[in-house]
Amino acid sequence: MSKDIRKRAAELRRALHRHNYLYYVLDEPEVSDAEYDRLMQELIAVETAHPELVVPDSPTQRVGAPPLEKFESVAHTIPMLSLENAFGEEEAIAFDKRVRRFLKTDSTLIYTAEPKMDGVAVELVYENGSLKEASTRGDGYTGELITPNIRTINTVPLTLISSATVAIPSRLAVRGEIFIPLEAFEQLNKERLDNGESPFANPRNAAAGSLRQLDSGITANRPLEIFCYGVGTVTDLEFTSHWEILQALKALGFRVNPHSKPRVKIEDILIYYRGLLDSRHEFPYEMDGIVIKVDDLALQKRLGEKARSPRWALAYKFPATQETTRMLGIDVQVGRTGALTPVAHLEPVSVGGVTVSRATLHNEDEIKKKDIRVGDTVLIQRAGDVIPEVVKVITTKRTGVEKPFEMPAACPACGSKVLRLEGEAVWRCVNANCPAQVKERIKHFASKGALDIDGLGDKLVGQLVDKGLLKSYADLFALDKATVASLERMGEKSAQNLMDAITRSKRISLARFIYALGIRHVGEHMAHVLAGAFKALRALMAATAEELWTVDEVGPEVSESVRAFFDNPENQRNIAGMLEAGVALETEEVKKELLAGRTFVLTGAMESMTRSEAKARIEAFGGKVSSSVSRNTTYVVAGKDPGSKLDKAERLGVRVLDEKALLECLKNPAAY
Ligand code: IVH
Repeated sequence: MSKDIRKRAAELRRALHRHNYLYYVLDEPEVSDAEYDRLMQELIAVETAHPELVVPDSPTQRVGAPPLEKFESVAHTIPMLSLENAFGEEEAIAFDKRVRRFLKTDSTLIYTAEPKMDGVAVELVYENGSLKEASTRGDGYTGELITPNIRTINTVPLTLISSATVAIPSRLAVRGEIFIPLEAFEQLNKERLDNGESPFANPRNAAAGSLRQLDSGITANRPLEIFCYGVGTVTDLEFTSHWEILQALKALGFRVNPHSKPRVKIEDILIYYRGLLDSRHEFPYEMDGIVIKVDDLALQKRLGEKARSPRWALAYKFPATQETTRMLGIDVQVGRTGALTPVAHLEPVSVGGVTVSRATLHNEDEIKKKDIRVGDTVLIQRAGDVIPEVVKVITTKRTGVEKPFEMPAACPACGSKVLRLEGEAVWRCVNANCPAQVKERIKHFASKGALDIDGLGDKLVGQLVDKGLLKSYADLFALDKATVASLERMGEKSAQNLMDAITRSKRISLARFIYALGIRHVGEHMAHVLAGAFKALRALMAATAEELWTVDEVGPEVSESVRAFFDNPENQRNIAGMLEAGVALETEEVKKELLAGRTFVLTGAMESMTRSEAKARIEAFGGKVSSSVSRNTTYVVAGKDPGSKLDKAERLGVRVLDEKALLECLKNPAAY
């Protein structure tokens, strides 16, 4: 083998590690996905031709390790302790007093605080810059080796970055929390329910279950991420403060939560806590509080630890998102695919500041498994914007009057037959024209990720369907203003707004349109995959099940479902009707170019959308969203309370857009 090939393999590995870091850790990619794929394919080709060039930390080695027989145990050289909890401001203040008393000092102490992630603690061991071992916390002293599973997580570096500020140590143990973001968690549970598997109770259980797989191929398909927050054994590096450790971890290529609060006194930590508590639902992941740490490592050492937790740190928790309440009854809702979902009707209770009176029970099997009866006292849980759910029954509260639940023998909305197919967990109403199904389908059709028709809410859809004005999607485009204006709670103005929104929705990307159709097993992501593969609706409609199946990521379930959908004459008529009414599909290529080459930086809070939504919308037009302002930034979008990024934009002369201007730009990117 020539030296050139060896050199090329090393070059490719280096480039791929770097692009992985830029994309996953910094969220600031420098190359397109296609370019990344090309480099990866080249490395795979080189390694296939010369297997002796494969090294364990090659970017190609994240997936594909053979399944383990069992997990080996490993001792943590420095124990992974737990934290003492505090639940109110007084307890946080008492912590500061306690620390000062222990240190016999009256002077102000400096703390660094971080979000407390609700996930699974792990330790990652690097030798000479390469990931060697990864383990769970276990009982704090001994954990389980889960190295192949951890390797699959893209935000975990396989090799470290050497920089002028931090040289790579010969041995470094890093600690962090593995978690699953909320949206991905919901998606994962939806897929599990569709496949007849039990859903995970919360993102933490989902993360734990995903890490506990003997086959890392399963873990690879789970949306796991990491934030690192500390170190275990370290050689060669000297630190004097916790904040320094976090900075060094960042420099070495680890993902560190950017919402930390460095080096302030306890009063400011309390303000930080309140700020995070108020905004916690805007975060894409779950936090269960903050961790306050004495910043000075010499002081940490003096403080030492108690039996199970250090004296220098405190977990100041957010109010619980679990509560107990009584279940008054079980309603059965009919979804857009006819699925009957039992929903708990609860005595209203405040959970983490929001009143909850309903919770999902998922399906019949879940109710049976948890033995949930009407009249039970139940533990309910709310996570982010996820629909609240019943976790378990508090059986000790049973009095004997509780009634077991039976699924209805007929559809509660239209009275038609209900059917539970073999291998499925759900009962379905067989009547495709069931008004409850039609309403849900239209709501889905008009929802944000689909046609995004503003103003077409639950009540209005209900009236339109009940009055027979809406039977199919195509009917939407035949509505006239006078009819809409004559409906309850509607007037001239709101009718006009709706008509405008419907007109606007006619120009839509192929992917959104496919998603809007509500084909079973075709979610937003799959719709993108199909749009990318077939480019035109006609081509997709004409594809055979086998052709569909050859597309990457498309399995037999999706291909059969897509085929069945387009084979249905009613669906064909409906689509023809929409195209006739002027629905114009834009292919991804055209759309992708509209904001190509433009980089956005978002700062401050927006009113009409979350940051991740804004990001998705910009990216849909081919724009890039970056987290730091530079001369290459095209626009800085400033929401409410913008940060220092706005100052920097002004300094560099970067154009600043307010929220309204951003919305205009997204509506009509070509004009901007
Ligand atoms: S520091 C000795 N920082 O909370 C101090 N822990 O209740 C060790 N956790 O097992 C922990 N986010 O899994 C620390 N920013 C953070 C954290 C964090 C989450 C978890 C960690 C730990 C548990 C202790």
